[in-house]
Amino acid sequence: MGEFVRVEADPENPAVAVIRIDRPKALNALNGQVTKEIAEAAAQVSTDDSVRAVVLYGGERAFVAGADIKEMADLSHAQMLNYSRALQNALTAVARIPKPVVAAISGFALGGGCELALCADFRVAGTKARLGQPEIQLGVIPGAGGTQRLPRLIGPAKAKDLTFSGRHVRAEEAERIGLVDRVVADEEVYSAAVALVAEYVEGPAIALAAAKEAIDRGLETDLDTGLEIERLQFSGLFATEDQKTGMRSFIEQGPGKAKFSGR
Ligand code: CAA
Repeated sequence: MGEFVRVEADPENPAVAVIRIDRPKALNALNGQVTKEIAEAAAQVSTDDSVRAVVLYGGERAFVAGADIKEMADLSHAQMLNYSRALQNALTAVARIPKPVVAAISGFALGGGCELALCADFRVAGTKARLGQPEIQLGVIPGAGGTQRLPRLIGPAKAKDLTFSGRHVRAEEAERIGLVDRVVADEEVYSAAVALVAEYVEGPAIALAAAKEAIDRGLETDLDTGLEIERLQFSGLFATEDQKTGMRSFIEQGPGKAKFSGR
């Protein structure tokens, strides 16, 4: 349990863990401490077998309003080399959580906040949410994965539009350009996000992790290498109990009836 980041089980779906970012005075801005605690939370939910899906949530006013500008303003080049490494490593730890992850975005998801949301598998936003990469207005560029993950998600031209202009995108446009997957009433953001991943908690956990790994690693490489990643992941699942259960259940009872153990 960190000062600004907590891992909690959702009360109604205890297999869904919530990484709750809670630094309200600074709209959850990512200072060094928050960054460190996000990395710790990602490690915790990654290795805890009772956690089957994850929600990233910052409360009602802001998801995360970016890296902490006040903390960064006077850093030297040498200091920023380390600072940005910690930031990128923390967000990559979130992107590598081997379980379904959704960002529940209420309010601002700007700069490092938008970049954190990009590390989730899915994004649910409230109607009043604002997303964007405003770093250019500070004389810099996104430094927590935005120049890489944003174009991979929405394509290079739209990513350049957002990055060159720094403009805030409303939820409706974010959905249209593929930056968010669902827009719901603001008061429903958290519950809609939980519902989205709760449907996977009874799923074959190792196969879900393999699907995520194959898609994410495959997007980072050429088709041949991606296909090889897929083939090895696919074959590896024949060492799991869930593959035996799933295929035997199909043969005996028809599709969609298997009860998986997650082993
Ligand atoms: N860093 C540090 N403090 C921040 C912050 C940030 N990114 N965003 C907000 N805050 C602080 C404000 O300074 C303010 O603190 P005080 O009350 O002590 O003055 C408090 O949070 C509330 O913010 P506002 O009064 O500004 O609230 P608002 O509703 O008027 O505006 C906002 C909200 C539009 C999000 C505005 O705060 C804002 O533009 N924030 C900065 C957004 C931004 O530029 N993010 C990118 C950061 S750089 C980055 O992330 C680099 C990277 O890629 C790694």
